[in-house]
Amino acid sequence: MRILITGGCGFIGSHVVKEALNRNFERVVNLDSLTYSGNPKNLHGINDSKYHFIHGSINDGGLVESVILEERIECVIHLAAESHVDRSIRSVKPFVETNIDGTRSLLEAILSSRDNGISTDLIHVSTDEVYGSLGAGERPFSEDSSISPRNPYAATKAASDMLVEAFVNTHKLSASITRCSNNYGPNQFPEKLIPLMTLNAMDGKKLPIYGDGQQVRDWIHVSDHVAGIFSTLDALSRKQIDPGEVFNFGGDCEMTNLEMVGEILLQLDASEDLIEFVPDRPGHDKRYAIDYSKASKLLDWKPVVSFQRGLKETVDWYKNNSDWVKSVRTGEYKNWINEQY
Ligand code: NAD
Ligand code: TYD
Repeated sequence: MRILITGGCGFIGSHVVKEALNRNFERVVNLDSLTYSGNPKNLHGINDSKYHFIHGSINDGGLVESVILEERIECVIHLAAESHVDRSIRSVKPFVETNIDGTRSLLEAILSSRDNGISTDLIHVSTDEVYGSLGAGERPFSEDSSISPRNPYAATKAASDMLVEAFVNTHKLSASITRCSNNYGPNQFPEKLIPLMTLNAMDGKKLPIYGDGQQVRDWIHVSDHVAGIFSTLDALSRKQIDPGEVFNFGGDCEMTNLEMVGEILLQLDASEDLIEFVPDRPGHDKRYAIDYSKASKLLDWKPVVSFQRGLKETVDWYKNNSDWVKSVRTGEYKNWINEQY
């Protein structure tokens, strides 16, 4: 198959691109506008004539349509997004522009390509955050949980999910939506919890924990998420699932932020004195947890990377890739850290 990946220079996108090449897709096209979190170094060393990078935005509908038509794209994995909750609290505009209007632009390009003879399947990569927040004793989110986003990032992802569902219903688009919990692994931009805390601890800097650190996240290794995305695509393209189906993916790994930071400190043999409690994130979601029994039943999917192994490999990756770290800690990154902390 010939695949278009949007946001392929980001954290998860770069793992999707590498997996598509491993899986011998006939053509792998990566469309990425290279925002602050998009980094061509994430794909450094790929030397494969099947791979083609296009520097451009999903908001440019004409470009997206011409890529689909010229490359005869048969499936799209859509990851391009603004992805950081804290940034969405400071400024929501880029989130509306990319996550909502960018998805609108991609959907329209897919429709007009179909009118011009090229039909594509779409996997829309979304997040568990669209379900809102759970209390301590509540059941994990299933695909039937209500959509009730509580931060601006999650609201824009929920809106994009609804646009996708509307296009499936109205225009008979062949699309499926994936909703995954918090990912970790190599190449994650160090604004997110695990890489931020790892790099700060390596440098002997303070580890800023929001509020009391008792918020819970369900951590999943990025490779397990990527496997889930490709399982969904396989099932959709083989018509084993109906268009419009949603699949949740989670890691069976609920931890408080304080527990997570403790694990990182252990890996690095660093002192707990580095922990610093800072003012809480406004509207901070208390708990995310995922029920992935639907994916397990229909896609034969389950997470396979153990947290201990995954975290050790991730921390080692940050230790061993100081050039990458140096390259992402540029002016923009420094400005963000100064503004936020
Ligand atoms: P990321 O911020 O690391 O990467 C986003 C990528 O999208 C970057 O390469 C960026 O340059 C690109 N991009 C942004 N705007 C674009 C545009 N207009 N056109 C083309 N490219 C554009 O994000 P990530 O963590 O890799 O997340 C990828 C996707 O997965 C997002 O849709 C996110 O909502 C979803 N997701 C992330 C997680 C997680 O834990 N990170 C969990 C569930 C779902
Ligand atoms: P993050 O990695 O931003 O993911 P998300 O907000 O999408 O879950 O944050 C994970 C958790 O870590 C979240 O509860 C907020 C918390 N956190 C901190 O306590 N300090 C920090 O500096 C950051 C970035 C996050």
